[in-house]
Amino acid sequence: MKKSVVLYKKLSAPLMARLHEQAEVTLIDALDETGLAKLRDALPSAHGLLGASLRLDAQLLALAPKLEAVASVSVGVDNYDIDYLTQRGILLSNTPDVLTETTADTGFALILATARRVVELADMVRAGQWNKNIGPAHFGSDVHGKTLGIIGMGRIGEALAQRGHFGFGMPVIYHSHSPKPAVEARFGAQYRSLQDLLKEADFVCLTLPLTAETEKLIGTEEFALMGPETIFINISRGKVVDEAALVEALAQRTIRAAGLDVFEKEPLSHDSPLLRLNNVVATPHIGSATHETREAMAKCAVDNLLQALSGERPQNLVNPAVWKQ
Ligand code: DGY
Repeated sequence: MKKSVVLYKKLSAPLMARLHEQAEVTLIDALDETGLAKLRDALPSAHGLLGASLRLDAQLLALAPKLEAVASVSVGVDNYDIDYLTQRGILLSNTPDVLTETTADTGFALILATARRVVELADMVRAGQWNKNIGPAHFGSDVHGKTLGIIGMGRIGEALAQRGHFGFGMPVIYHSHSPKPAVEARFGAQYRSLQDLLKEADFVCLTLPLTAETEKLIGTEEFALMGPETIFINISRGKVVDEAALVEALAQRTIRAAGLDVFEKEPLSHDSPLLRLNNVVATPHIGSATHETREAMAKCAVDNLLQALSGERPQNLVNPAVWKQ
């Protein structure tokens, strides 16, 4: 008998067809109230779940006694109670690698947009306010040759370092759990303590996962270590930052600008103080959002789910302890 799979994210026609061949599929096509009610109704018979952008907590998962596997269409796994899944013997998988380059592109887009004030000045042109040659009041700052500081030297951090080092001749400094000799050899990157990195980098870029340890890692004290020319970039998770402290640093111009793809609460509220600051470039969590990459992520998640449901170890298993059990 086919196993039952609940999707809470729409997939492309070829991927849907593949899943239909191998499983009974229920699609929840929106995560609004109706969709969530449909999800709750479908959970009691679900063997597999696939989707993203939904907090799957113990309370919700308790409705799914037959659940064997959850395939997240994301690299970040902060939406899952991993201890609970592991205790229940449910395999959790994610989609690393396929989104690394695209997410690093997003990081670099924000570096360039903030340093060269691309959004602010393009808005000025669109508003018909380009009436004379621009002068120093509209100048930005260079990116090439500036110091790139990366906090969290995982795959995405490395891809950012590669762009900075080879593309823009930037000295790279980084902070992570431990020094990474291979990264140092490839990009001439140098390890720093968090405090030293914040003091030294022209661009402070966050590429680390959200965990209990990294929540609110960057707050008032950390912003105070940055200089008035520092540009802050976040492509990891909003909750790694104390957003009120960030607003304060930007409003007081104790740092120069911020390029933000992620926020404490998403979607960002229309009346967020961040949106009243012209030194902020805010994007709607587009890290991996290209047609090619989102399809590759969905395919990777489908592969992981089908592997798990057929008794194979999923390629991107997040909680290997379940496999050992
Ligand atoms: C991820 O995969 O975790 C990204 O944040 C989604 O773009």
